[in-house]
Amino acid sequence: MAGRRTTRVVREPLAAGEAELLDRLAEQAGLVLANARLTADLEARLMQIAQQAADLRSSRQRIVAAQDEERRRLERNIHDGAQQHLVALAVKLRLAKTALQKDPELGRRMLEEIQGEVDAALDTLRSLALGIYPPLLEDQGIAAALAAQYLRSGLPVRMEADGIGRYPIELEAAVYFCTLEALQNAAKYAHASTITIAFHERDGALEFSVVDDGVGFDPDSQGAGSGIQGIRDRVAVFGGDAEIASSPGAGTTVVGRVPVHETVRI
Ligand SMILES: Nc1ncnc2c1ncn2[C@@H]1O[C@H](COP(=O)(O)OP(=O)(O)OP(=O)(O)O)[C@@H](O)[C@H]1O
Ligand SMILES: [Mg+2]
Repeated sequence: MAGRRTTRVVREPLAAGEAELLDRLAEQAGLVLANARLTADLEARLMQIAQQAADLRSSRQRIVAAQDEERRRLERNIHDGAQQHLVALAVKLRLAKTALQKDPELGRRMLEEIQGEVDAALDTLRSLALGIYPPLLEDQGIAAALAAQYLRSGLPVRMEADGIGRYPIELEAAVYFCTLEALQNAAKYAHASTITIAFHERDGALEFSVVDDGVGFDPDSQGAGSGIQGIRDRVAVFGGDAEIASSPGAGTTVVGRVPVHETVRI
């Protein structure tokens, strides 16, 4: 029929040169494919790194904003609280001194009143000190600094901190403030009969956990406040992570990990 073409495939053995050419072509094609795969992997990895960098930037910004807010809070509390307390106490002491000479009984009553106010001023200073870097942290480490906070609080706290060492101070401070926030949350909301704080070093990371057997909450509907966000942000700066697990009636568990052999400085 006109216009109809038939193609006949002739299977002839390839000449030596042709076979070599085909081999080389196949090799090149393989290389091109492998390169394409590598490029795609690299691009995906780059995107992942860019995302991590962006997350880190926002967590640092939140930390700086939170620290500024904390500084303002401290300044307000020092000015309106502790300073006013101490000024009033100085005035009352002067009055009591005069009263002691003229009317010893009145002077004694005034001194008793002053003693109560000194205790109140001390309490104000103690609660102020909660947001401040405790000197004990640098001297004796995380567990000692934390124990100093909860021992006088009357909270039912148990702590396990065997086998952890000392770490760069900024890492210890991050873990200390994370644990303290989880402990304060347990104290404020949980009504727990036991709060267990534990520190372990395993798989190159310092792990901390705060577990309470209190009322719990629903993290999905409750959402993270600035405290829980702060825990995540602080550990993220050191390449770590934190999980908060809770449900109503089943207590709350906060677990965080920070690599201790490779630290990122802020
Ligand atoms: N251990 C806990 N037991 C029960 N509820 C908790 C516990 N920890 C957190 N929550 C709940 O989760 C919420 C968010 O906690 P988060 O620490 O983020 O914020 P906050 O404590 O409300 O405020 P902030 O920490 O900024 O003072 C709390 O308001 C509380 O309802
Ligand atoms: Mg909180």
